Amino acid sequence: MSVINPVNSLVQPLGEMPPESVVFGRTDVMQAVRERLTKLAGANVPVLIQGESGTGKDIIARMIHTASPWRTGPWVKVNCPAIPGTLLESELFGYEKGAFTGAYGMKPGRVEMAHRGTLFLDEISELDLALQSKLLQLLQDGQFCRIGAQEDKKVEVRVVCATNRKLEQEIENGTFRADLFYRINVVNLQLPPLRERAADIPELVDYFLEYYNRKFNARAKPLSADLIGAFAKYHWPGNVRELENLMKRYVILGSEDVISADLKPREPDFFSAEIPLDGQISLKKVTRQAVRELERKIILKVLQNHRWNRKQAARSLSISYRALLYKIRDAGLPSNRTARRQPAESPTNQSAAAD
Ligand SMILES: Nc1ncnc2c1ncn2[C@@H]1O[C@H](COP(=O)(O)OP(=O)(O)OP(=O)(O)O)[C@@H](O)[C@H]1O
Ligand SMILES: [Mg+2]
Repeated sequence: MSVINPVNSLVQPLGEMPPESVVFGRTDVMQAVRERLTKLAGANVPVLIQGESGTGKDIIARMIHTASPWRTGPWVKVNCPAIPGTLLESELFGYEKGAFTGAYGMKPGRVEMAHRGTLFLDEISELDLALQSKLLQLLQDGQFCRIGAQEDKKVEVRVVCATNRKLEQEIENGTFRADLFYRINVVNLQLPPLRERAADIPELVDYFLEYYNRKFNARAKPLSADLIGAFAKYHWPGNVRELENLMKRYVILGSEDVISADLKPREPDFFSAEIPLDGQISLKKVTRQAVRELERKIILKVLQNHRWNRKQAARSLSISYRALLYKIRDAGLPSNRTARRQPAESPTNQSAAAD
């Protein structure tokens, strides 16, 4: 299925999709997702898809569209983090001529473009509070207002949202509106991480092997039983996307060694640090060290989640901006955009911390 509204380049083609048998596999947890999707596809209610990165939220959103009565209508995807905050409102809701400096003509937003189709809002937690209230209005009565317009407009649109964050936590932090959460969460699809559906791995492996052999005109052989066994035990932090990338690499390079080397060991537990149990132990010292290390890891994760936006990270951690800056320096974490590209997993990387 492809572009429905040819005048509009933002209405995207749906693109190639793996067959349903591969997407859902055979595990009970995925069969339950399939059953729920079939039931909800026909009802015009908002859907919230949650799951770790790489679990297939995009694929499932597209399936909801193709299984819905609006499948011949437009499919409009908005990747919220990819659009700078200041532009997001005009991208979503459009503007009238003269609404602001530079608005030389009227521009419809993506909400309008999705009329009688599906609007997919990817990574919904990135919307700021003002945009959240505009979206709430859209969900409540199907109305919205272009920037600079005098009157509201009405659209019929099926809204599907996705996130890999815990919105409940964002609500607690005050960065996500609870009323919007209840609106978008009328029906929820929770996608399991790949490690919780390991029985589906062999089928996914076969599919990606065949797909990439065809795509790259290659003849990579099926994987050994040993490697498939290792896959079943692996924790797959990048989920199906990681598996797909491994298979792609295997088909291109043609050797299992490249895969085995890529199975990253699990991150050590916060509290698994070596504690010397012989001789005298200073409980105070060990505890202080553990707390500092735990704090450092949490701050790093939150900074990464907020794409190193320290104001947002501070809000999310419920500490002041100044306190966060102090803690970043104290923990030897990189504090600016350039430095963040360098590895920051160990306190020894303090050279990256120049502020
Ligand atoms: N169940 C699945 N069956 C087949 N391929 C899948 C499945 N889930 C994900 N993939 C593949 O893994 C990749 C990532 O999937 P997708 O983009 O849907 O994940 P996501 O949950 O939206 O990730 P993110 O949170 O990073 O946006 C895609 O190339 C997709 O084709
Ligand atoms: Mg996605």
